[in-house]
Amino acid sequence: MLKGRSLIDPMDFTKEELEEIFELAEKIIENPKEYSHVAEGKILATLFYEPSTRTRLSFEGAMLRLGGEVLGFSEPNSTSVSKGETIADTIRIVSCYADIVAMRHPKEGAPKVASMYSKIPVINAGDGGHQHPTQTLTDLLTMKTIKGKLSNMTIGMCGDLKFGRTVHSLIKAMSRYKNNKIILISPDELKIPEYIKKEILEKNNIEYEEVKRIEDVIDKLDVLYMTRVQKERFFNEEDYIRLKDSYIIDKNKLSMAKDDMIILHPLPRVNEIAYDVDNDKRACYFKQAQYGMYVRMALMAKLMGVC
Ligand code: NCD
Repeated sequence: MLKGRSLIDPMDFTKEELEEIFELAEKIIENPKEYSHVAEGKILATLFYEPSTRTRLSFEGAMLRLGGEVLGFSEPNSTSVSKGETIADTIRIVSCYADIVAMRHPKEGAPKVASMYSKIPVINAGDGGHQHPTQTLTDLLTMKTIKGKLSNMTIGMCGDLKFGRTVHSLIKAMSRYKNNKIILISPDELKIPEYIKKEILEKNNIEYEEVKRIEDVIDKLDVLYMTRVQKERFFNEEDYIRLKDSYIIDKNKLSMAKDDMIILHPLPRVNEIAYDVDNDKRACYFKQAQYGMYVRMALMAKLMGVC
């Protein structure tokens, strides 16, 4: 039963529960009208302590399309946070005003703390360089729909694997599906954290390799998951400038890839995917962003217990 629960970590729900959410998302995509009133009278609070376009708007769009309403902030300096209010106190109050919360925060673990003091479901919309479980739901639904499966694939993850929370969450989630191989493509400075290798990949016997050049592996991939170098998490500008253009996928590189490989990206992109790739049939990142809204509709409907 998903009603009343929070989503903080991609492993909070079982595979079967995820399946339930995907099934509902598919039904909503097929017949959105049927779901346009299910959340009437419900309110989503979006508490965004960090910048966002897609995630916040897709949450808000999702709630509005379910017939519910939205309140919240995306500029914490205009709230009592700037007076020193704690997360625990903020959420205690917001719990009285809303029925469900989506929270993004620069500090790892902040949404978890919020869920401990909340009377209503809390959804982690990204916590620092840690996790981003609703992006993972988006990524899984996109792969499942376009590739028709979540197992037996070679998945390349490329770019900022150190700070990229979407990559951390996706690897966690993929560890439950059979027979996937993960190829981690990054410069030395942006390699995946050790804990992900030890506690997720190795513990679950997932085949993986770490490489530096995308050209060396692109022909093996079924999915290429590109990421942006996470400027806001660098300690100095110099390192960022040196690393920001480590990988740029363009038509030339794409010509080496399989015909049915798909390119995903959580977005925003900066330089890592050339615009001339957008028209290639393998470019699925805009479609992915669309799935993001539908999967958030399904998630919130389940957590609020209205579907
Ligand atoms: C991602 C994030 O916030 O982690 N964006 C998103 O939610 N779609 C990726 C990023 O910012 O690079």
